[in-house]
Amino acid sequence: MCGIVGAIAQREVSEILLQGLKKLEYRGYDSAGMAVVDDKSNCTRVRRLGKVQALADAVDENAVLGGTGIAHTRWATHGEPSEINAHPHVSNSISIVHNGIIENHQPLRELLQQRGYVFYSQTDTEVIAHLVAWELKSAASLREAVQKSVTQLEGAYGMVAMDSNDPSRLVVARSGSPIVIGRGIGENFLASDQLALLNVTRRFMYLEEGDVAEITRRDVFVFDQSGNAVEREVIESNVESDAGNKGKYRHFMQKEIFEQSTALINTMEGRISHDAVITESIGVNAVEILNKVEHVQIIACGTSYNAGMTARYWFESLAGVSCDVEIASEFRYRKFVTRPNSLLITLSQSGETADTLAALRLAKESGYMAAMTVCNVAGSSLVRESDFAFMTRAGTEIGVASTKAFTTQLLALLMLVTAMGKQQKRIDAAKEKEIVEAIVALPAQIETALTFDKEIAALAPDFAEKHHTLFLGRGEFYPIAMEASLKLKEISYIHAEAYAAGELKHGPLALVDADMPVVVVAPGNELLEKLKSNIEEVRARGGLLYVFAEKEAGFNNEAGMKVVNLPKVSEITAPIYYTVPMQLLSYHVALIKGTDVDQPRNLAKAVTVE
Ligand code: AGP
Ligand code: GLU
Repeated sequence: MCGIVGAIAQREVSEILLQGLKKLEYRGYDSAGMAVVDDKSNCTRVRRLGKVQALADAVDENAVLGGTGIAHTRWATHGEPSEINAHPHVSNSISIVHNGIIENHQPLRELLQQRGYVFYSQTDTEVIAHLVAWELKSAASLREAVQKSVTQLEGAYGMVAMDSNDPSRLVVARSGSPIVIGRGIGENFLASDQLALLNVTRRFMYLEEGDVAEITRRDVFVFDQSGNAVEREVIESNVESDAGNKGKYRHFMQKEIFEQSTALINTMEGRISHDAVITESIGVNAVEILNKVEHVQIIACGTSYNAGMTARYWFESLAGVSCDVEIASEFRYRKFVTRPNSLLITLSQSGETADTLAALRLAKESGYMAAMTVCNVAGSSLVRESDFAFMTRAGTEIGVASTKAFTTQLLALLMLVTAMGKQQKRIDAAKEKEIVEAIVALPAQIETALTFDKEIAALAPDFAEKHHTLFLGRGEFYPIAMEASLKLKEISYIHAEAYAAGELKHGPLALVDADMPVVVVAPGNELLEKLKSNIEEVRARGGLLYVFAEKEAGFNNEAGMKVVNLPKVSEITAPIYYTVPMQLLSYHVALIKGTDVDQPRNLAKAVTVE
């Protein structure tokens, strides 16, 4: 789930490996390591707890020489973060780096111990090293040994095997965790993310699920799940190596809106396998904690708070666990009661929000069973100070108005809810499969939602001259309406409010007239009929409606009502999906108003002061 980099070249590779690991630091990790072999089969392994810089210092001190090497940043799932548990793991001449989780590590460990292998770490990964070493005894090649080994593994992996007795090749395999091969001239590279290799190549070959590939300096031989030799296309990448570059986009916010399907893929990677969420991927001791949780207390600010408000519906309806959500600045200054077996979850893009951090520190002294953070910035204060962190992996978010950080928070929270519900036996295998299928379908659906950009842009002029906008939603779409209104006010400076649609007649209806557009998030769920009544309440008062719905809901453009008909998606992931058209709407309104979209007045990206 963290980072893998590998290289096979005529030149020294340790620096290439370190540069690659640095590019992957944003994903979060607890330790780093590498192993390099020279042409005379001398293998040097260096590992360090903590930063890639600590590994780099160690590489400077110990000559780590050779043209064949593998490197890793680890995010512990099995065994504490420590140097001993850091990758690569070694068995005889075999070194292994691995992303993901081997679910059947325990029986494999016992089997390999019976065969005489001694385990030095607590990781699940070490079984792969011994398994490949064992298979190599009877296999014709390292590739065959890896092929035989992976058929025995259950779970998710992206892995690389290196044999110091034969530095002329590396063998990689993937299932549930990505591996990309970077093609050079007389040298080849590999990584868990192409970002790690953009300094050395632009030509990439993506492995497919179940593929095993043998990589030499000159060639790459790929074999599919059934062991047949296959060709995988080489694609020229146009990705910017620098996250601080807008590329073809006009604003960072626009770029970040359009990056969301990739961000979501990164967030789910290595965390789901075979129709299930891998509970261990949530963090060390997650299984134990999620089994026991009776109550969840979420603390956050701004957009992150809106993500928490959405997740509350999921915690209670899917996992059957009660959940409260509170704004950090309120929580920290009131006397609260901690319920028994409560899990505290802070949500934050930056991990540095002063109020959220203060709330975490306070909560740690207040009897919570554990403090977890769902966060986007590795190494941030919230990540360091929480008992465990579930990283959102949205990548760097530069626009002050949060977009991809929000949708990845929602996805991370949905995976957490699913794992919790499963552990507590309230989500059965069929329901889990339904949720995971919805999750896996999401990136493509988000791409489709983005194709509505022009249609949504055409609505923007109706808003740009107005001073107020009302957003309505029901159920988990109420917080999506809250997030939509926050986006609009942040970047267009138009006053916007969100209401649970059922509250309309309890006050805000008095505001409705032709000068206040009313935006309705209206997916086809069981509350649709109720929402239709609310829409009629607005129409009857001459209000102008903008309805975002799915075709099947039966809304049509007519006087006083403009409709954006989106393709239907699963009800479970619909809150994530409906966020995207809302983001596009505020973006286009801000464009017309000519505001500073990426740095709206008076706001900061990380609110590190109270
Ligand atoms: C989002 O668009 C805002 N800029 C803001 O509300 C933000 O979400 C809030 O400050 C919390 O930040 P965090 O997620 O980094 O903790
Ligand atoms: N499960 C492995 C471990 O705990 C790999 C973790 C990772 O993906 O970084 O070492």
